Amino acid sequence: MKKRILVVEDEEKLRRVIELQLTSAGFDVDKAAAAEDGLRLVDRADLVLTDLKLPNMDGLQFLALIRRQNSQVPVIMMTAFGSVETAVGAMKAGATDFLLKPFSLDHLMQVVHKALEIRALRDENRQLKAELGRRYEFDNIIGRSPAMQEIFATIERVAPTRATVLLAGESGTGKDLIARAIHFHSPRKDRPLVKINCAAIPENLMESELFGYEKGAFTGAQTSKPGKFEQADTGTVFLDEIGDVPAPIQIKLLRILQEREFERLGSNQTRHIDVRVIAATNQDLRAALEQGTFREDLYYRLNVVPLNIPALRERKQDIAFLANHFVKKLAPDTGCQVESITDAAMQKLMAYHWPGNVRELENVIERSLVMATGTQLDAGDIRLEPPPSPRRAQSGGGDSHFVPEGMSLDQYEQEIIKEALRRADGNKSQAARLLGLTRNALRYRLTQMGMEA
Ligand SMILES: Nc1ncnc2c1ncn2[C@@H]1O[C@H](COP(=O)(O)OP(=O)(O)O)[C@@H](O)[C@H]1O
Ligand SMILES: [Mg+2]
Repeated sequence: MKKRILVVEDEEKLRRVIELQLTSAGFDVDKAAAAEDGLRLVDRADLVLTDLKLPNMDGLQFLALIRRQNSQVPVIMMTAFGSVETAVGAMKAGATDFLLKPFSLDHLMQVVHKALEIRALRDENRQLKAELGRRYEFDNIIGRSPAMQEIFATIERVAPTRATVLLAGESGTGKDLIARAIHFHSPRKDRPLVKINCAAIPENLMESELFGYEKGAFTGAQTSKPGKFEQADTGTVFLDEIGDVPAPIQIKLLRILQEREFERLGSNQTRHIDVRVIAATNQDLRAALEQGTFREDLYYRLNVVPLNIPALRERKQDIAFLANHFVKKLAPDTGCQVESITDAAMQKLMAYHWPGNVRELENVIERSLVMATGTQLDAGDIRLEPPPSPRRAQSGGGDSHFVPEGMSLDQYEQEIIKEALRRADGNKSQAARLLGLTRNALRYRLTQMGMEA
């Protein structure tokens, strides 16, 4: 695209020479003999070349007026030999460059090209910054790590589509947040987003909850009721904890995904539905596939776009950003004066392994803000859960529990293995040593747990 240069010069001969030179160099040229005429043409100019001494207006005043109208346009000031000081003044006032009269046409072209180049670089820089800014934060989802930036890019790419997304990540990694972001960046954003927590619905109620029922379908069904899927028609269904869906429901979900149809409980009328499905799991579904507790066909229908959200301990770069974000977000509510986090406190946050991920970080910051007295959050204000220690857990506070309450032996073993990996920073040989296992024995257990060995 041709660049347009505005030449403001009261001396007609010079104006013509410059115009000729610029047009033959491939520029479009606007001309003005006075400041007032020039100002009318500033908006469409890519560069302004102006005399510093104009009739009726001082050059610096003219410059200020140009800047007010177009803060980005490069301005080159032409000034008579001997008024270098004024030229310097012009630079200070925001001129891009100056030309001392008389100047050669070569020199004129050099200065013009240089000014346009700088302009292009600045534009590019601004654009880059804007892009980066968008990447570090997406709808209040904070993430500087490459993994999170990739997730943002995927969200942007898949949100406008109808594709089924499977979010996998430990509890507290932001699955809900991401599911919402996908829905609200989709064409369905003004339609319902219905969340179904599959782990929270008792198995015997799940079918009626999801697909609705007809009057008399079971004792107590005095009226007909649409299910969650019907409520979400033309919108999005977010199936949280999809790994907890029992087998009979899995097959009905598969039918919704494949045929977009279902029946209410107690009805043989087939209903059609248009929903976009986003599913989430905090367990490794591939392990469930191997054990045969999760249907393979359903898994592949759900896993069209997999989004794996790493645990917070695997993307430590995000900790500082998130911590600062939560301070800003939560400080006003807690009524404290905290504005920032000391280096020592940040180091403490960075060193922790965050089993509860971002949710835990948010809670820790909130609690710490209550403890803090000054304008900075210090290491002493931050209380972290000590890592689960097998010895401590085993002694169980003198109680007779062999394993912590509410945990199966398998879960307990998994916790210990995960903890060993954490302490070994993911190094499997070292983790195996900590556990008194051979590397192969640890490998075997990891495969059993569905964690890659
Ligand atoms: N990347 C993130 N940026 C900002 N807040 C986050 C981020 N990830 C999680 N959170 C916050 O942490 C908490 C837990 O997130 P959530 O989406 O409910 O996790 P999950 O569904 O995976 O358990 C929420 O308060 C959420 O706002
Ligand atoms: Mg969740």
